[in-house]
Amino acid sequence: MSALYDEIQEVRKRYPPGTRSAVLPALRLAQERYGWLSREAIEEVADALELTPAYCFSVASFYDMFHLEPVGRHTVEVCTNVCCGLLGAQQVLEAFEQELGVAPGETTPDGEITLRAVECLGGCSTPTIVAIDHRYRQSVTPADVPTILEELRNGGD
Ligand code: FES
Repeated sequence: MSALYDEIQEVRKRYPPGTRSAVLPALRLAQERYGWLSREAIEEVADALELTPAYCFSVASFYDMFHLEPVGRHTVEVCTNVCCGLLGAQQVLEAFEQELGVAPGETTPDGEITLRAVECLGGCSTPTIVAIDHRYRQSVTPADVPTILEELRNGGD
């Protein structure tokens, strides 16, 4: 069995037997290991949890935080949900598109940065929220975008 299989068995022990509760942490482990959830990765999770790949895929495809396509070394995720949308999230997203030269869902040609538009990130009181490699930046405006990307490319965030 694979190292992922063993890790999933460890996580599985924390949940009641016979339930599907460990699906989310198992998918997260697979994504951490492979960077994204390929068909093979989802099959590995399903095998470890004794579930069907279709069920695991249905869970993975529901949540924004799971990548079903390869992503760049860094991810920039702009919340475009209601609170952020009311305070200019679309303009922030467009500023990232312009600076990076890619549309949401695409990765820069050098494979470094994937831009994504995502649903509510749970930081609604300080819109617009942008997650840079899963670390939140609050109250982001279009004017902040060049600096954020410069910091990211220089190893900060
Ligand atoms: S709407 Fe953007 S964080 Fe909730």
